[in-house]
Amino acid sequence: MPVPVMNLKAQYATIKSEIDAAVADLFTNQSFILGPIVDGFEKEAAAYLGTKHAIGVDSGSDALLLCLWAMGIKPGDEVIVPAFTYFATAGAVARLGATPVFCDVEADSFNIDLKDAAKRVTKKTRAIMPVDLYGQCADMEGVAKLAQAHNLTVIEDAAQAFGASRNGKKAGTSCHFGIYSFYPTKNLGGAGDGGMVSTNDDALADMVKLLHTHGERPRYFNKVVGMCGRLDAIQAAVLRVKLKHLDQWNSRRAEIAKLYDKRFTGHKKIKAPVVSRGNTHIYHQYTLQVGDGASTKPRDELIAKLTEKGVGSMIYYPVSLHRQECFAHLGQKEGTLPVSERLSRSVVSLPMYPEMTDAQVNEAAEAVLASV
Ligand SMILES: Cc1ncc(COP(=O)(O)O)c(C=O)c1O
Repeated sequence: MPVPVMNLKAQYATIKSEIDAAVADLFTNQSFILGPIVDGFEKEAAAYLGTKHAIGVDSGSDALLLCLWAMGIKPGDEVIVPAFTYFATAGAVARLGATPVFCDVEADSFNIDLKDAAKRVTKKTRAIMPVDLYGQCADMEGVAKLAQAHNLTVIEDAAQAFGASRNGKKAGTSCHFGIYSFYPTKNLGGAGDGGMVSTNDDALADMVKLLHTHGERPRYFNKVVGMCGRLDAIQAAVLRVKLKHLDQWNSRRAEIAKLYDKRFTGHKKIKAPVVSRGNTHIYHQYTLQVGDGASTKPRDELIAKLTEKGVGSMIYYPVSLHRQECFAHLGQKEGTLPVSERLSRSVVSLPMYPEMTDAQVNEAAEAVLASV
């Protein structure tokens, strides 16, 4: 039985009638830009997250940009970003002409290493962007301490962690801003690009709203230069339906992770993911470390064997951000962020989606165990 790494069609099949009705309703009303469906989704998302504001935007990438922009981040400013994350976290900083300063991550949680981050604070540092990689929160209490000590803005990149929590607080809700992505393969995924900014601060929410509609207030009167960064109503229509199912889907992801854990924990050649204390992990990804990360060979050999057996896998991410070509001018050489570099050579994510059957989970696990 082939086991794909994800299966969006399987999810659609379970909610087809609800999605089709929501989209048909939108087409009947022809209210495609902002309006009641986007408002409704924003209210429901804010209630789910427990924040005062949740602002729908056009992507997770632009959600990051809008937060930095709202804080006035500009050329000459430095922003601390973990090197082991998706490109968008650092890309947003660079798009404003500011400098991403990469720090290392922890080998267990894959999240920001605050001791390393602290060493990288300078007089120019304005913000820090912890990422909740693969679906579990970074050490947000530790981030808050560091940020308070140096008067930094905190933007939590919870693109992969909608619904995850830490010590009772939802991902993205215990700092200045949380951002989320609704890219279709995310645990809360739309029918195209989409994203969100959450905050409890009225003034910051107002600035993000202003910037995401070209700084217009009222219509055709532009107070500041902004961008066209709105969430499409068709995405909001789909996401409203999916939000109702999210907790159940996230729980199933955690069940699948438990089944994998049973097979992999304590294995000599592979390392199962570790959940940090206080975290409820939503397993956007279930990611193993294969080998010691000195080379990609053990990981690549495993992937080749899994592919032969019809079991999907993905590498998130094969290049640590400080080693990306576009950031070469920053001069962070090979060896400067050893954990991120090692992880980029050793991680592999296994099939993970709520509709997977236990038999498929076992099949994927067997294939891994037979291939290492
Ligand atoms: C950690 C992280 N940040 C930001 C983003 C950007 O989100 P989007 O693809 O919606 O622009 C992603 C999406 O892959 C992500 O995984």
